[in-house]
Amino acid sequence: MIHFITLSIFPQIFESPLNYSIIKRAKDKNLVKFSHFDIRDFTKNKHKSVDNQIYGGGAGQLMTPQPIFDAIKYIKQTYGEVKVIFFTPKGKTLNSILVQKYASPQPPKGGVLATTTYLLLSGRYEGIDNRIREHLVDEEISIGDYILSGGEFASLIFIDSVTRYIEGALGNEDSLHDESFKDNLLEYPQYTRPANFRGMEVPSILLSGNHQKIKEWKTKESIKITNKVRKDLLAPQSPKGEV
Ligand code: ADE
Repeated sequence: MIHFITLSIFPQIFESPLNYSIIKRAKDKNLVKFSHFDIRDFTKNKHKSVDNQIYGGGAGQLMTPQPIFDAIKYIKQTYGEVKVIFFTPKGKTLNSILVQKYASPQPPKGGVLATTTYLLLSGRYEGIDNRIREHLVDEEISIGDYILSGGEFASLIFIDSVTRYIEGALGNEDSLHDESFKDNLLEYPQYTRPANFRGMEVPSILLSGNHQKIKEWKTKESIKITNKVRKDLLAPQSPKGEV
């Protein structure tokens, strides 16, 4: 089981998206569980403020260390060992290799792994005080080269992408085998009925019943689309980061 704990100033953001489809099913099968904490609940100041001005100048505000330090301490005391992941554009970019590693945590040597807990920390404003990164954060993850208004949506993307790789989470295991990024290729085009929709026809090879030819067509189309839009995937791969 993977336990995803979120820590943010907007815990309500997580309520609805985790109650549908594959994630909902994984939760019902006890493959995953969720807990959401509000950073503001751990503040010790009268106004429950979580941010302050940046030392040395600079626009905007930064999240202060006290509530986040105390929240993480409380969560560790309550749930035991957790891996703290902070979502930031300065982190390692999430890709399918990393997602699969997070989805299949390795048990300690000679031991069994009952539950793996990821504590997903979302920042807002200009980010978090660097002491939080230095002393509490185990991994920093970006979901792409653009700036989000906070880490909550990045956390949700992490949860969604990791959950569907957990064994047993997908109804039809085959859906993992043929999808994009398998063997560093994007997925070939797919069609369903009718074979002729308003004059637009499904490629005849797919209706031929010739499995060998269909397989070759799929590979050719995968290479074609990957070459067109994601040449970088076909380049020799640099070693991917460890989880
Ligand atoms: N927070 C703000 N921008 C982000 C990004 N690109 N990825 C992850 N977390 C973020």
